[in-house]
Amino acid sequence: MIQAKIAEILESDQFLQEYHVKGWVRSFRSNRFIALNDGSTLKNLQCVIDFENTDEELLKRINIGAAISVKGTLKESMGSQQRVEIEVTELEILGDANPEEVKLTILSPKKHSMEKLREQAHLRVRTNTFGAVMRVRSKLSYAVHKFFQDKNFHYVNTPIITGSDAEGAGEMFRVTSLDMKNPPKNEDGSINYKEDFFGKETNLTVSGQLEAEAFAMGLGQVYTFGPTFRAENSNTSRHLAEFWMIEPEVAFCDLDGNMDLAEEFIKYVLKYVMKHCKEDLEFLAERQANEDKLKPKAERSEMNLLEKLNFVLENNFKRVSYTEAIEILKNSKPNKKKKFNYIIEEWGADLQSEHERYLVEKHFKSPVILFDYPASIKAFYMRLNEDQKTVRAMDILFPGIGEIVGGSQREERLDVLKEKMKALDIPEEELWWYLDTRKFGTCVHSGFGLGFERLVQFTTGMTNIRDVIPFPRTPQNAEF
Ligand code: 4AD
Ligand code: MG
Repeated sequence: MIQAKIAEILESDQFLQEYHVKGWVRSFRSNRFIALNDGSTLKNLQCVIDFENTDEELLKRINIGAAISVKGTLKESMGSQQRVEIEVTELEILGDANPEEVKLTILSPKKHSMEKLREQAHLRVRTNTFGAVMRVRSKLSYAVHKFFQDKNFHYVNTPIITGSDAEGAGEMFRVTSLDMKNPPKNEDGSINYKEDFFGKETNLTVSGQLEAEAFAMGLGQVYTFGPTFRAENSNTSRHLAEFWMIEPEVAFCDLDGNMDLAEEFIKYVLKYVMKHCKEDLEFLAERQANEDKLKPKAERSEMNLLEKLNFVLENNFKRVSYTEAIEILKNSKPNKKKKFNYIIEEWGADLQSEHERYLVEKHFKSPVILFDYPASIKAFYMRLNEDQKTVRAMDILFPGIGEIVGGSQREERLDVLKEKMKALDIPEEELWWYLDTRKFGTCVHSGFGLGFERLVQFTTGMTNIRDVIPFPRTPQNAEF
């Protein structure tokens, strides 16, 4: 008897071998055929029982959602749906599922809306779609580590609780152990954070970049892969309040090297999952095609999911300066016809997602790397160009997603950095340690941040970012 996962049994040629397998019942038909799933693969294992010789009471307990243990023999299947099946010799109910109650949940075999599935996020992982998405997510995350480890990058864990809010990447969540009903006050009535747990104001991090930069100055090339928090009130299909970000940081690397790294990285992880998650991706491609059919023609994608992934692998990302992009947008049809919500009038305008998507989906029809943005719309740490108005920033824009990567070459010149901070009212005391990295052996260095969920979204073709993370945190929602 071999204890095995369904993924292994479905590949097995060891006919007549006795197998022991445990999983959850997906369906039970004709009092004879159980479709069993254990999460190891998209496909179910057909387990055939001899109902005439099975206890009636036991048969009644083989219900959708129940956890069961099956022992039986591997046989070639007569059915056309599967190559092999298990002829059951012993069946045990491990955990019952009451059919009347199952009927009220998303486990019932009906078509359920994505919203409904989200309300039962603890059960949705038992559906084909979420099983597939979560397996792809897991493999993508392994590929992230493999890519960087194989290239001799070091994995660093930057703090989740941070005492500086200088990066300005977004609104932050306060971390405190003070009694909110009766906080200690200063004489002027403001809250006295000296009495708080850390003796100062602290927040959840919006990025591990500044700490990663310090580490790159000793370990050479590093990457983070951890949770990130932003309290923006953005109720969109691309924003989460808690998401995972991958942030590589490389010493002695300029912006061109940074763009090369980001492009190579994205292609590597996509290729990896296309090789290792073939079945799940094929299923998700079909799911997306079906979803697409319900959309108006103009919104349907020209390529299916697998074609889209292949397209990204096979083509160079278009590298376009911000200045060029503004010219394209200014002269674009939706701008001239005032179809954009934000009309692009002049150089310096911040790009909205409608502009990013126009560039990627309509104009270039390819992933785009925009670089050399106006200093005024980017963070203080980006390296100022000779023109004194643009910085060495780069954003990677993807079809259907918009911005997937944000990065830059960092300002390594102490005097320029200090001046920039002064202009933006960022106190030097708060970032004394960051400034130190520019005092002691400063060097050209670059890095970027990739939003992991946006990557999973692109890879799986899911429309809403809430459907690619197990338990999404969004405004007004922290259930589970
Ligand atoms: O562009 P951002 O804000 O860049 C940074 O945080 C830099 N410190 C990164 C660096 O250079 N090391 O965020 C990086 C990426 C975005 O491109 C996007 O993919 C993702 O993080 N992101 C979000 N993903 C989901 N929900 C949100 N609210 C996100 N905000 C940013
Ligand atoms: Mg950004």
